[in-house]
Amino acid sequence: MAYNITLIPGDGIGPEVIYAAKKVIDASGVEINWEVVEAGSKVIDEYGTPLPDYVLESINKNKVALKGPVTTPVGKGFRSVNVALRKTFNLYANIRPIKTYEGVPSRYKDVDLIVVRENTEDLYAGIEHMVSEDIAESVKIISKKASDRIVKYAFELAKKENRKKVTAVHKANIMKLSDGLFLKCSKEMAEKYKEIAFEDVIVDAMSMKLVLNPEKYDVLVMPNLYGDILSDMASGLVGGLGIVPGANIGEDIAIFESAHGSAPDIAGQDKANPAATMLSGALMLKYLGEFKAADKIEKAIAKVLKEGKHVTFELGGNAGTKEFTEAVINEL
Ligand code: NAI
Repeated sequence: MAYNITLIPGDGIGPEVIYAAKKVIDASGVEINWEVVEAGSKVIDEYGTPLPDYVLESINKNKVALKGPVTTPVGKGFRSVNVALRKTFNLYANIRPIKTYEGVPSRYKDVDLIVVRENTEDLYAGIEHMVSEDIAESVKIISKKASDRIVKYAFELAKKENRKKVTAVHKANIMKLSDGLFLKCSKEMAEKYKEIAFEDVIVDAMSMKLVLNPEKYDVLVMPNLYGDILSDMASGLVGGLGIVPGANIGEDIAIFESAHGSAPDIAGQDKANPAATMLSGALMLKYLGEFKAADKIEKAIAKVLKEGKHVTFELGGNAGTKEFTEAVINEL
């Protein structure tokens, strides 16, 4: 069966890393009809927006997209394409698998955890106002519905991936109502998944514990703001954004993309590391149920990283995007 997938090349290094990932996915044997749709700064002049309707229509139709990074124009009044996609399709779960790969410089070994971040509320609900000229107020929204949904997602993910433990991260000792509700929902959900261990950790302690012993953690679930910060921090533990994939997942639509941005400083120079986008492609294949192909791609990337002969400059190598891609395809 061939899958119909929306492919959004994006801006900056986007097209380079996206076509590298597409090549690798095509070489894995899974049959995909790619529907390429352009978004971002290159379409603003023609369509008056970085996110034209045809992009939304394509995602709505195909239900799954692989996306390159999109530049957010500063001070031009456009809202971020990423925020707009998240809101339009109610992509409530942001997933960031964090894993050490041999050959990638990192202080740690054997890290293999997943950060599951609630994507729709918390301080990101955008409810802010000035109370007076000198006082600003931001409203933090935590609901039972969104907390139950994200914690359930984390437990289901743990079950599906044979993982042993879910850790809920919060600050309920101070924000007794909002984070208290998130914690209560987490504890209640844990009762329904007795086969998976559960613990809760306060976010400041979690930051320290992650830096000290990241290998002790498995699936971490948390509200939006803590997830934003800890998922980037955790990426740093294993060698940076160049090798960290990601996904934004909703009820029936999912968009897969690396965690890094459009890197305008190295765009068009055959310098970008496409590993994170390839690994996002592997995540997408898992989502589609193509576990063998996903595993094959991840192993091929791991081998090329370990060998170190064809890695890009930010990992200390001399290879370009194309050379890395060819090396991964050879391993496949
Ligand atoms: P960035 O992630 O694009 O770049 C930060 C640094 O990391 C730069 O030095 C860059 O060269 C390097 N880098 C990033 N990806 C790399 C890769 N694959 N291989 C080698 N080096 C890499 O972050 P920055 O500069 O803050 O953002 C640039 C633009 O990207 C902004 O317009 C921002 O809004 C957008 N952005 C888009 C995202 C998305 O569409 N998902 C996510 C993050 C940022």
